[in-house]
Amino acid sequence: MQVPFYDIKAQYTDLASELDAVVHDVISGGNYVLGPHNKAFEEAFAKLHGVKHAIAVHSGTDALRIMMDAAGIGRGDEVITTAFTFVASVETIVQTGATPVFVDIDPATFMLDASKIEAAITSKTKAILPIHLFGQLFDVVRINEIAKKHGLIVLEDAAQAIESTHNGTPAGNFGISAGYSFYVTKNLGAAGDGGMITTNDDETDEKCRSIRVHGMGRERYYYDHLGYTGRLDEIQAAVLTVKMTKLGEWGAKKLVTANRYLSELAGIDGLTLPITSPGNNHTFHQFTVKTSQRDELQAHLRDLGVPSMIYYPVPIHHHTPYASFTPTWSLDVTEEVSKQVLSLPIHPHLTPEQVTHVIESVKSFF
Ligand SMILES: Cc1ncc(COP(=O)(O)O)c(C=O)c1O
Repeated sequence: MQVPFYDIKAQYTDLASELDAVVHDVISGGNYVLGPHNKAFEEAFAKLHGVKHAIAVHSGTDALRIMMDAAGIGRGDEVITTAFTFVASVETIVQTGATPVFVDIDPATFMLDASKIEAAITSKTKAILPIHLFGQLFDVVRINEIAKKHGLIVLEDAAQAIESTHNGTPAGNFGISAGYSFYVTKNLGAAGDGGMITTNDDETDEKCRSIRVHGMGRERYYYDHLGYTGRLDEIQAAVLTVKMTKLGEWGAKKLVTANRYLSELAGIDGLTLPITSPGNNHTFHQFTVKTSQRDELQAHLRDLGVPSMIYYPVPIHHHTPYASFTPTWSLDVTEEVSKQVLSLPIHPHLTPEQVTHVIESVKSFF
């Protein structure tokens, strides 16, 4: 049996007639730039996340970049984050001219360890940019307490946290702004690239809307900010609005698989299963286990037709463009976790037989 790690085409099959119709509507309508589908998608997304404003942009990376520009982050500033993330979280900090300051992660959640943040704060620290990783929220309460105490802003990297909540409150409500990604493999994936910024702050909303169109103000060809071509394509907005209608059903199916993994793989010596922090829901963007025999397990699974992925094999500061940001303190947990993590297939179109095969394959290794 060959288990697919993702099944993007099956998402199309679920919604084929609706998707074909909206794509045709956009192409035949000729309203390609920031048209009605953008507006409808922004409104639906803001409602889903209980936020005042949602600003659709070209990608999750653009969301982070625009949020940071809107927050005035730049040369001379330090931004606290982690080295255990997708590169975009850090690349965008560096692109503003600011310095990323890596703080170690929690060994159980793989996210920013709040207890280590204060030691990294200096007079230059302007923001904390934690990442909601793999489908659950970072330690939103403690991180916001620290930010408040030190007068810092919090920017949420919510690329992997669509519909994730803490005590029922969705991502996007724990910082000045949050950036989401609709990259094809995300829980809500575009037919290409897409992203969203959410904020409850009117000034941030105004700035982000302006920066995504070259910093243009209310009047055409008058510029208030340095900006980008950062808009979301109208076709993607239309596709995403349709796909949003399936989020609940697809999320529930993923949860069934996650719960089977959690119960049927429990108690295996040498295998650590993901935990969900108190108050969080987990939307399982990834189902990530930990084992000191990671590479051997991955090879064993591959031989049995079970693909797996390593998110993330090499901490960011070990890559050439980021080596100069290696901190003076240890990132031991980051280093260890990146050698041990393995993400198992989890998507809404896995069959019960495929899930059984994944479980049996993992069990047969141990
Ligand atoms: C944590 C994180 N941040 C940022 C991004 C960037 O998003 P995009 O690929 O849409 O630019 C991604 C996803 O790819 C991500 O996983």
